[in-house]
Amino acid sequence: MPVTLLPGPFLDFPLNPLVGRLESSAIRDMLAVAGRPGMLSLAGGLPAGDLFPVDRLARVVAGLLATDPGLALQYGPTEGHEPLRAWIAAYESLRCGREVALDQVLVTAGSQQALDLVARTLCSPGDTIVVEEPGYLGALQVLRAAGIRLVPVPVDADGLDVENLAVRLAAGLRPVAVHTVTSFQNPSGTTLREPRRRMLAALADRYGFVVVEDDPYAELCFDGRPRPPVRSFGDRVVTLGSFSKTVAPGLRVGWAVLPQPLVTPVVRLKQAADLHTSALGQAAISGLVADRRWWRGHLDTVRAGYSRRATALADALGDVFGARLTLNSPSGGMFLWGRFTDGTSTAELLPRALDRGVIFVPGVEFHTGPGGEGTLRLAYATNTPDGLAEAARRLRDAHAGLRG
Ligand SMILES: Cc1ncc(COP(=O)(O)O)c(C=O)c1O
Repeated sequence: MPVTLLPGPFLDFPLNPLVGRLESSAIRDMLAVAGRPGMLSLAGGLPAGDLFPVDRLARVVAGLLATDPGLALQYGPTEGHEPLRAWIAAYESLRCGREVALDQVLVTAGSQQALDLVARTLCSPGDTIVVEEPGYLGALQVLRAAGIRLVPVPVDADGLDVENLAVRLAAGLRPVAVHTVTSFQNPSGTTLREPRRRMLAALADRYGFVVVEDDPYAELCFDGRPRPPVRSFGDRVVTLGSFSKTVAPGLRVGWAVLPQPLVTPVVRLKQAADLHTSALGQAAISGLVADRRWWRGHLDTVRAGYSRRATALADALGDVFGARLTLNSPSGGMFLWGRFTDGTSTAELLPRALDRGVIFVPGVEFHTGPGGEGTLRLAYATNTPDGLAEAARRLRDAHAGLRG
């Protein structure tokens, strides 16, 4: 890789061109604006802070520090805190109806780190990964940072268009991996239907790629029935999970379920990257999930909270826009995906919305190529139902100003 030099006053500092070309995530930039006084934000993908189990967590952490401070504060194994790994292995075995061995589970600093480690283990710079269009920006960012070539495949109402992928594979496309957010996708809210899950696993076997199933929203299913992961249907699958949406993202605890041949290389890469995930965070989560009754009740509370907000926003948008805005029907996760049917460009709508005190993310931001001009992502998690109704009214006023 040639060494490039930064221009101007940074002239003497070398810079990896892959890093130099990285753009800041549009959403992270927008979060700065979202914090303005009075602004109603439908932009950031933050989980609902009022649903964090603060009191319970405080009790668990206090107990840990009182009884076993060494466990929570000392260096720990790279693979993760063993009781937590055992819990994840049991959970994943139940979910996919096949045994997941303890040594296949790696606890990571959020599922974002798992994606980074897996991508860098599988790919050299210049290799190809199929991504979703529209797709999760954090994935696009981490894969670009690794110098990976991204090939977008569209997402429709049933999730990743696996039929489209099959046609491209038959025509010669040979990706190392396919990245897909299978349940309540970020950004479109869609869920990969079961026949497509089966077909994707079969395509992975046939063409020799790895499915990287990114599933942090699995438990935010409003009907309380998580979907069977792609791993239920095949072996060439890495499943990524997270406690960011069910407990709290600040703890930075996620995981990867790895096919056996990937275990050693991914664990070694993690060892090089950060030694291990926060011992305190892992022990705290382990303490929370150990009480099964409490955990089930907590998931019910979180699902009900998100479901109420999703319905409030969908109803309010339906009232103000009617048929001019179509929405995916909210069945889980944190996002509504809208499409204006009257030719509105959401990138043009955004500055007017900001003037009126509401912010969202235009759909074009989630595309690697052209497209998505009339679409937008609306995150409901951090607002009250009244706040969401007001946000819809502000959007209506912004839209009225734009359409004249
Ligand atoms: C699809 C998807 N994957 C991964 C992540 C990262 O989650 P974590 O906090 O577990 O790193 C997010 C966060 O928004 C996400 O939407």
